[in-house]
Amino acid sequence: MAARSSSKTKRFFVFIFTTVVVALALYLFYHFKLALTDALVARMGPKAGEDSLIRIPELILWSILAFLGVRAVSTLIFDILFRVRRGYEAPTLVRNIFSILAFTGLFVLTFNKIYQEVNLGALFTTSAIFGVIIGLALQDTLGNFFAGISLHADRPFLVGDVIVVGPQKHTGVIESITWRAIKIRTFQNHIVLVSNSNAAKEAIEVAPRENLNARLVLFGTLYTDSPAKTIHVVREAVRDADNVSEKITPIVRIRNLGDSSIEWEVKYWLDDYAKYNDTDALVRQRVWYALRRNGLTFAYPTRTLHLERKAMTRPVTAEEQIADRLSAVDVFSPLSTEELRQLATATMGHVFAPGETLIRAGDEGSSMFVVHNGRVAVQVVERGKPRTVAVLTEGNFFGEMALFTGEPRTANVVALEETEVLEIGHAAMKHIFETNPSLAESISWTIAERQADLAAGSLQASQTSIQESAGVLASIKRFFGLR
Ligand code: CMP
Repeated sequence: MAARSSSKTKRFFVFIFTTVVVALALYLFYHFKLALTDALVARMGPKAGEDSLIRIPELILWSILAFLGVRAVSTLIFDILFRVRRGYEAPTLVRNIFSILAFTGLFVLTFNKIYQEVNLGALFTTSAIFGVIIGLALQDTLGNFFAGISLHADRPFLVGDVIVVGPQKHTGVIESITWRAIKIRTFQNHIVLVSNSNAAKEAIEVAPRENLNARLVLFGTLYTDSPAKTIHVVREAVRDADNVSEKITPIVRIRNLGDSSIEWEVKYWLDDYAKYNDTDALVRQRVWYALRRNGLTFAYPTRTLHLERKAMTRPVTAEEQIADRLSAVDVFSPLSTEELRQLATATMGHVFAPGETLIRAGDEGSSMFVVHNGRVAVQVVERGKPRTVAVLTEGNFFGEMALFTGEPRTANVVALEETEVLEIGHAAMKHIFETNPSLAESISWTIAERQADLAAGSLQASQTSIQESAGVLASIKRFFGLR
């Protein structure tokens, strides 16, 4: 911004300087015109006095002054007045046409004034050959020029719109429309110039910037998966992704019953269409995680394979891994190996994408979670902005407050990276409490501590009083029907 305004100031000073120099040159020219003529006559004979030679610098100086004048008026009209009144930059084509016409007019006037004996009009109208030469030379340029004018009159697209144009399907954001070509910046950050006359002949696909533009993303599921469930799960996963418009809910529908899959399309609308590549990718990612979490399966061509079985050492089962993870959670440390195994059987694993919300403040909740892999942030919303209260990593747990007290969720929990969590439900915890009464006590401490953190609005654990944790313990016992 600063660089732009400093270059404007520089241009302004160059303009003033040049104008002063040219005006001075003109003044000096008229001042010494007689002396100059005499000098020429003395050297070249009396004919030099009437000759047009002396008038050439005069014509040049006046033309430069006319050019500077046109630049000044054009800046005044288009940079200042047009921008203030319309709020956007004037099209380059309009500016160029104005400058060319104004300058040609001024040049003809000056020429007529200085060379009164030459009839410019006659020169142009009688010179048919001149006309043919100019016409042929400018054929393409004039074609572009008039196609440009018609594009500006129709206004089928504006700077900032995304377009697809030409047989090679050039796709990108329009950077400028000049009297010769449309300049597009492609998504590979290349510049493509499509001449106006070509653009006028081709079909052009425009996604206007001010329009809610939609995209389609395709995927396939197994025939054994429920369509109703797929629609619900995918729609919910896609609707809160970045850059997916909140104005229209995404549509998930069956596109085809294919050979080896139900073929689906997700139609969604974008806030900023120019970022559709990233958003398509994010939507596909969300679909993957949502299907995975909900036990739905992507389809792929099915094939029968005959596998050779080799003797192997017994692999560690998923259940053993989970029991291992649970044993590292501090509040579960009093549990026996058998109890940990039972608890592991009762847990459900879920995977979340970076940025996905696992828990929303205010929702009902009847389960808690242990972070198996990854990281989550616990956030509260203050004055419309999220504040991170804590970051929890592998082996930490969350969601215990609503589970043990029956209150609504106290905070949002958002995945900071790809995160796998283990969900433990009410029934599994009740069973554990009955055999391990001390567990309720240690959990009540954690809850009281976290409640104090939330209330204090600080990132550090605060001092928690014995009364507070006793209160929590009483409510856990009440809620779980423990003695
Ligand atoms: P719950 O209220 O069920 O849902 C939001 C969860 O965020 C909450 O349970 C806690 O597990 C967790 N939480 C709230 N405050 C904190 C905190 N200060 N430190 C760590 N975790 C917290």
